[in-house]
Amino acid sequence: MESAAPDLPWTDPLDGLPLVRPTDPRWTAVALTHLDELLVDHALCEQKAASSALALIGRFPDRPELVRPMMALAHEELHHFRQVLDLIEARGGALARPRPDRYVHELRQRGFRTAEGLGAYGDLLLINAFVEARSCERFRLLAAALLDAGRALPAEIPDREALGRFYRVLAQSEGRHWETFRDLATMALPAAKVERRIALLAEVEAEIVAERPLVPAMH
Ligand SMILES: [Fe+2]
Ligand SMILES: [Fe+2]
Repeated sequence: MESAAPDLPWTDPLDGLPLVRPTDPRWTAVALTHLDELLVDHALCEQKAASSALALIGRFPDRPELVRPMMALAHEELHHFRQVLDLIEARGGALARPRPDRYVHELRQRGFRTAEGLGAYGDLLLINAFVEARSCERFRLLAAALLDAGRALPAEIPDREALGRFYRVLAQSEGRHWETFRDLATMALPAAKVERRIALLAEVEAEIVAERPLVPAMH
């Protein structure tokens, strides 16, 4: 019997995202083979996303259009953090020290170095936008693999379908977050300038992703 294709609200994992380079197709198997490690990294990404939303408010309190969207975002990321921590604990695991986050580090380093920046406010918004976009793509990859019952996974995952549905929901939410950051940048700066900056950062981001080793981590 042919298995039905999973019901996914996107056609291609890069749909609607500013990314120009898809994740290496081998990444999904690496991530699902080391699911415990992936979940710990993922939980800490959610924690960092909440912290960085609050840090933006602290750095730019005079931007009234920023404050409430970032409060809402921090709230949502904290909720994700709790959900992932619940999953880790249900599997008998615990949080651990994260591996150094080279991806975000490099994105900040190289993103700020490029010519024609938008200034600290615009560039920080767009760097956050790319982190959200890449998370969205990777959640989509995980959801697609987990929800495709016909696809053999590299490891036995008892709660496979529930986990797939969870990642499908998270993918939608990170997709909205990328738009929130992009829209905030467009509110503060000329749209054409923001678009050019997004195109340039997309190239920088693609380079960084190409250099990353295949590890069970979100980035
Ligand atoms: Fe999140
Ligand atoms: Fe997010």
